[in-house]
Parts: sequence; C-alpha cells; structure tokens
Amino acid sequence: MRTIAIGLLGAGNVGQGVLRILTENADAIEGRLGAQLDVAGVLVRDLDKPRSVPVPPDLLTDDPQRILGDPSVRVVVELLGGIEPARSLVLDAIARGKHVVTANKALLATCGREIFAAAAAQGVSVYFEGSVAGGVPILRTLREGLASDRILGICGIVNGTCNFVLDAMGRHGLDYAAAVAEAQDAGYAEADPSLDVEGIDAAQKLALLCLVSFGLRVDPRRIPTEGITRVRAFDLQTAERLGYVVKLLALAEATESGVRARVHPALVPRDSVFAGVHGPFNAVLVNSAALGRSLYYGLGAGMMPTGMAVVSDVVEVCRNVLAFADAGPPPEAFREVRDAEPLPIDEVEHENYLCVHVPNVPGVLGRVASCLGRHGVSIKRMNQDTPGPGEPIDMVILTERVAEARIAAALAEVDRFDDVLGPTDRIRIVDPDAVGGVP
Ligand code: HSE
Repeated sequence: MRTIAIGLLGAGNVGQGVLRILTENADAIEGRLGAQLDVAGVLVRDLDKPRSVPVPPDLLTDDPQRILGDPSVRVVVELLGGIEPARSLVLDAIARGKHVVTANKALLATCGREIFAAAAAQGVSVYFEGSVAGGVPILRTLREGLASDRILGICGIVNGTCNFVLDAMGRHGLDYAAAVAEAQDAGYAEADPSLDVEGIDAAQKLALLCLVSFGLRVDPRRIPTEGITRVRAFDLQTAERLGYVVKLLALAEATESGVRARVHPALVPRDSVFAGVHGPFNAVLVNSAALGRSLYYGLGAGMMPTGMAVVSDVVEVCRNVLAFADAGPPPEAFREVRDAEPLPIDEVEHENYLCVHVPNVPGVLGRVASCLGRHGVSIKRMNQDTPGPGEPIDMVILTERVAEARIAAALAEVDRFDDVLGPTDRIRIVDPDAVGGVP
C-alpha cells in the first residue's frame, strides 16, 4: 500500500481532531484513497503541554523546518490560526512544492491573493474547506457540485459561537457573558471571542464564500459588519413573541453592478428553516439560477467536524497527487478572480425591528412616529408594555420595507430627541429565502 506523508502545523483543538480522524477513520480513508496517510511531524509551541489526543513524542517538534524541510512530506496542514507565523510557513511550504490544507479563514481572507498566486506558480493546491462552516462541505459544493450554475445569492449562519450565544440567551435564559463562556468551553469560539461576537469571523467566511461563489475577491474589512454585542435578551424574547427568531446572518448577492455583501443580526420568520438552526450548527442557503434554492446544514465548529473537513481536503489533494494531476481543480473555483469592492448598502431595503427607549410621557409616541414618517419610514406594527406615568418604555416598532439610508437618517434624528433615553435598537428583518431574488 502506498503511503503519503503529511505534516501538521499546530495541534490545538482542530489539530487534535485531525489526528483522531486520521487514526479512527484510517480504514475508511484508505478504502477511498487507495493509500495510507502517514503523519511525519506535528509542530507545536510547547512540547510538554498535555493534550487530550496523545501524539507520539517522536512526531512532536517545535521546529517548523523539521516538517517543511522533509522532502517526503507532500501535504502541509496549517492549523495555527492568525496571520503570522502561519502566512510565512504556508508560503515556505508552497515554495518547496508542498500542497497546503488550512482551516485558517483569517489568513486566506486577508492574504489569499499572495498565497493562491504562489500556489498557482508552483502548481500546488491550497484547499480550505474547514475555514467556512466547519464540517459542512459548502466550499466543495460551490466549487464542484454547482460548477455549472450561476450563484445569485447566499445567506448563511456561519458563526457557531454567535448562534450558540443567541440561542442560549433566547431559549435558555442565560446572560450574554455566561453564554459566551459556554461557547468558549465547548471549543467553538475563536481564541479571541471578539472576532466571533463582533461579526469579524463571519465576514472573513463571507469573503471566502464570495470568492468561491462569484470569483470575486472581497476584502472582509470592507464588508459592512455588525456583530451581536448589542442584541439584548429583551429583543430575543420580543422577537419570539412577534413570530421571529434572531440570527447572525452573512449575506451576499450578485447584482449587475457588483456584489452586495453584509453581516448583521436579523429577525428571521419562525417558519424559515433558519429558525431551526440551533446552537453551534451552521446553515448556508444558496440561490442559484438553475438549481434554485439549496440548503447545506451541519456542525459549524468543533474539533471533530472541522477536523473532518480538513482531512477530507487532504484526501482530495492526495487523490490528485495519485492521479498525477497535482494541482487539481482551482481552489478558488474560478480560473480568473477579480477584485471587488462590496457595494454600499444604503439602497438595500428591509423591514426593521426597532426598540425606542423613551419615558412614558404624553406625545412621545407621536413625536417618534412623525419623525419616522418624515423620513418615509412606515410603521407596520407597534407594541409596548403598560408602564406607569414617566416610567421608561421599550417602545417596539416594526417598520415596512425601507432603504437603509432612510431608516438610518430617521433613527439619527430620533436619538437626538431630548427625552430619548438611549440609542434606539434596530435589527433588520430578513427572509433568507428571498436572498438573491427569484431564480
Ligand atoms: N469560531 C468559529 C465559530 C468556529 O464560532 O463558528 C471556527 O470557524
């Protein structure tokens, strides 16, 4: 039986998942590949750190050159996370003609141009399935399963931590800090959970989805992004009473003038499939011209799901190696990739959930409603509890569809009223099925 040597850079949560899958699923992998995968070395920072998955001590090294300089290693698996030293080590591996598999979305979303160009010049592959939606094979589906279709729009729940936190607050009554701590303990959150809760992780994943869906390279820092830090338990509970569930969505649509991409929390209708995506699960709904809507669902984070996606990439690379088709299909899905600036979202129209913070005094509702009306914002529904005179009210308003620019201008004016007690909360209302229009 032929053996293909691989080297691991990193043995954290996902790295240990990779090692477990290589051991526990060795027969299944060998049966599909017709070859054995052999780990030639594992780069770690601390040789003595206890690990839940034991690594034979002779494989552990704190010297990357032991892996990169080993000519038998055909595939380097980068699981260090972050930009450096991951970027330098990946470029070094490519320069030595090694294929690369990574789950590092921050690296590819920010340095993808350099890395993919280096790989193309060397005729090697860089696969990255584990970087988006953990174990859900969404990139391979977009690259291969939908290779003959035109992608019109994508709507995803792609951050398991945010989904877990929103669920834990809304369904289980946990406060925000406790919910984030639980997500961290379960191994879903990034080392710095602000990347999750601020929507940055989702924006990086959306940039990679835009690459593979549209052949457009979008800088994730240019994607309009709002995280979940301002969503309160009150909003989650009120949304539920009104027939909605709050989710952090990553959305992209192809338009004639470019790509419209954004990340923000949204109220989705309770009968939408997205309302049933709970805890660390992810879902991506793709709207494409010929197929129409298709949905991809599964665990979006964690040792074994993401480890599985990484090892499946290794299997794909090794299949290409064995077929003497070294570089395989283009990892970015398109032969030519263009740079694209995300379109401004000022003209995008949504219904909105608003929560205006005012005291219960005569005329306050009229002042808020007239201001909204002056800006062309029409009220669809209104709801408030029955406080005593002068007591603070959470005045909940659902608007009709209105352009972002109009609602933003209206709320800027409302929030300047003398008697407004704090910034108005706004959460957009999105029907995931409508993203990308009618195929
Ligand atoms: N921190 C990510 C999430 C997992 O919570 O979805 C890795 O992408």
